[in-house]
Amino acid sequence: MENDKKANVKKLPLALFEPDWGSPLVKTIIELERLRVKKLGGPVPPYIFFQLKDIFQILESLGSARIEGNRTTLAEFVERVIETPNKKTSDEKIREIFNIGKAIDFIDKNISYNGPIQRRHISEIHKIIVDKLSIPPRGEGSKYPGEFRKVPVAIKGSSHVPPDALHVQDYMDELINFINGRVSPQHDLLITALAHHRMAWIHPFDNGNGRVIRMFTYALLIKQGFQVKNGRILNPTAIFCMDRKKYYHMLEQADSGEKDKVLAWCEYVLNGLKTEIEKIDKLLNKDYLLKSILSPAIAFSLERENITQREYEILKGVIANPKMSIKSADIEKMIGHESSVQRSRIIKKLKDKGMLIPLKDKGRVYTIGFANNYLLRGVINVLEKNGFIPMSLNKN
Ligand SMILES: Nc1ncnc2c1ncn2[C@@H]1O[C@H](COP(=O)(O)OP(=O)(O)O)[C@@H](O)[C@H]1O
Ligand SMILES: [Mg+2]
Repeated sequence: MENDKKANVKKLPLALFEPDWGSPLVKTIIELERLRVKKLGGPVPPYIFFQLKDIFQILESLGSARIEGNRTTLAEFVERVIETPNKKTSDEKIREIFNIGKAIDFIDKNISYNGPIQRRHISEIHKIIVDKLSIPPRGEGSKYPGEFRKVPVAIKGSSHVPPDALHVQDYMDELINFINGRVSPQHDLLITALAHHRMAWIHPFDNGNGRVIRMFTYALLIKQGFQVKNGRILNPTAIFCMDRKKYYHMLEQADSGEKDKVLAWCEYVLNGLKTEIEKIDKLLNKDYLLKSILSPAIAFSLERENITQREYEILKGVIANPKMSIKSADIEKMIGHESSVQRSRIIKKLKDKGMLIPLKDKGRVYTIGFANNYLLRGVINVLEKNGFIPMSLNKN
């Protein structure tokens, strides 16, 4: 939000404070370091993993938009995801959420372990996030997509006055050097937490700062070795969207620049991250996923009559296989005494609904599809019951 008020803006040095040995923050950092290098046991096949990742991308995008006042609930958004496979919509509130998903795709493609995060990445993320959104107060877009602000800015719900537009470039250069110039690996996580606050404090854009900053944190974690391509799912926004008031309060405390308050901010971010990672790692255990998530999810869909009894049996057969995939001949066997025309029709219907997905290079082998069809309702319902979804996503 723009603000014409002239204000005295305090300078805040970008300091890498060292936490004390024995502090809870150091304990959290050590545990996160263990998670960073941990190999996941009993991993799920990639075609299942990437669907789970898509679902967490939905949660991440929605959570981030909701922090900024978007009131779409998870239940509503799930329906939109199912209805809008091409992600083209005339509804700005929904586009705002899809845009964040596109920014995640951009980061997954362009940010890599130990690679740099440059100004051009940050600009591109901003452009994607505000794409085709009206400028405030009508919408959540920006007057200068991809460019730093040329005007003063105020933060709604906070007393922090971000630095004069004249200094934004210098502050951002300093921040970009800070994140790319590695002090030593044990500082990585501290840098991630500090950089989130720092960019929020600078507030480089006229609007869209919060959404860019949370993506920036996601990008930094990938850069630092929390590899999403190696079977890990990250959902850092969950830390912040669980309790928006707390998020704003912790940022405001850190605005003081005082060591203990800045480190309290780091503790808040990194402790949240640890909890999230531990939780999601559990989901990526194949036995857990089968018994506690996918089986109950398809049962839910049967109960709600989103699938027929026969479709349910087939999908159950698919996920029960060790690789969560099945040969079409085996599906035919499961269907039993129907005519071959009828068997093909049943399989075709499941393929058309996206619930059976052919696997490439494997001839007639299928896996289950659950990330963008009616099965998603069941998966979300079960994830919710098992504590994977911030409660705040469903409040109006
Ligand atoms: N006291 C504060 N100090 C620094 N940053 C803050 C403070 N309070 C809130 N913020 C950040 O400002 C963001 C809101 O800025 P804004 O440009 O409106 O982003 P968006 O358009 O994505 O809503 C919040 O999501 C948060 O990240
Ligand atoms: Mg805004």
